[in-house]
Amino acid sequence: MNVASGADVRRLLRELEVFAGELPDFDPSAAPECPVELFTEWLLDAIRAGVREPHAMTLSTADSNGDPSARVLILKDVGPGGWQFASDAGSPKGRDLAARPYAALTFYWAPLARQVRIRGPVEPEDRERSAADFLARGKGARAEAMLGRQSQPLTTLAERDDAVTASLARIEREPTLVAPGWTLYSLRPETVEFWQGDRQRRHTRLFYRASDAGWTKQLLWP
Ligand SMILES: Cc1cc2nc3c(=O)[nH]c(=O)nc-3n(C[C@H](O)[C@H](O)[C@H](O)COP(=O)(O)O)c2cc1C
Repeated sequence: MNVASGADVRRLLRELEVFAGELPDFDPSAAPECPVELFTEWLLDAIRAGVREPHAMTLSTADSNGDPSARVLILKDVGPGGWQFASDAGSPKGRDLAARPYAALTFYWAPLARQVRIRGPVEPEDRERSAADFLARGKGARAEAMLGRQSQPLTTLAERDDAVTASLARIEREPTLVAPGWTLYSLRPETVEFWQGDRQRRHTRLFYRASDAGWTKQLLWP
């Protein structure tokens, strides 16, 4: 394949179609009072539509200087306690969250042209809940997380493979092992925004804000 020139790439990008095909309707006047309920409906729609990894979301954090980072994580649970995800507390994102326990989550379900954005404070769950999340993971995922070296420099892929193989053998011998840094986090939502794309660009946005009296809802200009 030829490497396209800058102009080719620009033309290619301009020609790409957005919001093609059938898109769902979204009537914000019928939206539930609680955003967790609407989020759950949209997540189920994404699962039913066969979206690949519908539970993948972008977690955005900032470090102590305010410098941002974003990466994709798996949603572990959602409910009255908020949105949950898990990672190594010693990883860059874990260090960001220790320094500034506040984050944003973004979901995008492309075939449905739907985006959800959530912001709020993040708290680590206790050791017991974090351990239960760890032990519910598959062996391969546990073996990898046991290494506790996420995002550190790696010299060769063979070094990775040897370490994972040794870690797997350790887990086989001691199946109740829990990675010491593995942490389940909960983001308690302060704001949640639902965005439904439309082919004619009449996108619908519904913004929820938490208040002492419950949730307030507000339409936003697209
Ligand atoms: C679909 C997908 C799911 C992922 N799920 C997780 C996850 O649940 N936990 C995690 O620590 N990293 C997960 N990752 C890897 C992260 O995106 C990231 O590379 C890693 O956590 C290191 O991030 P950090 O250096 O910002 O700490 C996932 C990546 C993808 C593409």
